Amino acid sequence: MASDSTPESRERSIPVRPFGATVYALLVVAGAGAMAWYLRASATGFHWSDLLFFLVMIAVTEALPIDMPGVRGTVSVSFAMCYSAAVLFGPLFGGLLTAVGSIGRRELSGRVPFIEVMFNRAQLFIAAATGGLVFSILWNGNASPGSMQFVLSVLGGGVAYFVANMLAFSGYLALSTETPILEILGGVRWAIPSYMGLLPIAYLNVAVYDTVGMLGVIVFLLPLMVGRYAFKMYRELREVFISTISALAAALEARDPHTSGHAERVSRHAVRVGQEMGLDRERVDLLEYVAILHDIGKIGIPDHILQKPGAFTESEWALMKRHSCIGAGILQRIKQLETGSEWVRHHHERYDGRGYPDGLSGEGIALEARILAAVDSLDAMMSERPYKKAMTVGQARREIIRCSGTQFDPRVVEALLRIIDEEGIEDGYPDGEVAEADEGVRAAASGETNGGAASP
Ligand SMILES: [Fe+2]
Ligand SMILES: [Fe+2]
Repeated sequence: MASDSTPESRERSIPVRPFGATVYALLVVAGAGAMAWYLRASATGFHWSDLLFFLVMIAVTEALPIDMPGVRGTVSVSFAMCYSAAVLFGPLFGGLLTAVGSIGRRELSGRVPFIEVMFNRAQLFIAAATGGLVFSILWNGNASPGSMQFVLSVLGGGVAYFVANMLAFSGYLALSTETPILEILGGVRWAIPSYMGLLPIAYLNVAVYDTVGMLGVIVFLLPLMVGRYAFKMYRELREVFISTISALAAALEARDPHTSGHAERVSRHAVRVGQEMGLDRERVDLLEYVAILHDIGKIGIPDHILQKPGAFTESEWALMKRHSCIGAGILQRIKQLETGSEWVRHHHERYDGRGYPDGLSGEGIALEARILAAVDSLDAMMSERPYKKAMTVGQARREIIRCSGTQFDPRVVEALLRIIDEEGIEDGYPDGEVAEADEGVRAAASGETNGGAASP
């Protein structure tokens, strides 16, 4: 892992570096120098062409980081390449190749302060050299690449490399930003599985180089590069898909000035509740998309009802209630969202069975629909309308609790409250912004609903 390939090191620009951070950086640079001096005896017997080849491979893989879908930040295969060099050529050359080969464009452009460039190079040298050193101690020079001892040695050295890199980098970040180091380590822990997953690649790279040579490494890298391209395509397609459904939601919001931003906020809150309730990634993703379109059925509601500022008549309310079924019909036509059409149909069902359109109750309503019902109402409550002021988070919180077990699933309420209390939720939408033409409130005003929290 090259610390400058992590999002944290790329994105954080530190305006004024505290004195402690400068001293720390200088100590790490001095430590790298001392380590190189200590390791000088290990630098023998390698062909320059091999070293140059690995230097180029490290630079190439460093320049092409892989964006991992659903994971914060990027993962660079260069970690596998750097560590392979440390295993093959020993700690000194491994460290030097890593430090030199992984210099990024940003560092070369002069936009990174010199002291930070030096620190980055030094800490990467120490990390790779530590990895190489731990490997050579465990390996002890007497196990073939096919043996279990060799495999375990590669694993041990790789973990040492990662830990050294993580600690050195996090230490600097903690001092620079005056943040507790545990908090920094918590923030970069996403990288652990990704980088540990690169250790088998490092092992295979070493084995391929050992048996086939340079050409083998290039051929071995090709599938990784194809994989990178596939990831890129996947991300682009996903973005196109999200933009398309967002455009669809925006088309509805353009028709109804009272709905600005509602779909996007409901989607954001639904994702947080879904994650809090432990839904797997795929379901949370689907929930995110479906939530954006939960009110899309309003596209089939006449303007004079949709844009009506006051209370609904009985027949208007009956028409408005059709939006969940119309929306479900629309989602059924989108293959990727078909499963979610049922959630849209039931996003106005109530836990006690007094909702619409089917009067389902309790667990008979899909969990995702119960989540949508709660976050939809939360957003409606916290939004300003022509006929009511926006509630504060505290007021909305009390209302959600009051309706737990009647309108809302108590488990969903618990998760939502945890999010509100622990992470916080945006309070007070922008002045003049009206989150939703809250047909539920207007129906209540005309005596058509069974009461409860504001829910469209
Ligand atoms: Fe709705
Ligand atoms: Fe809604």
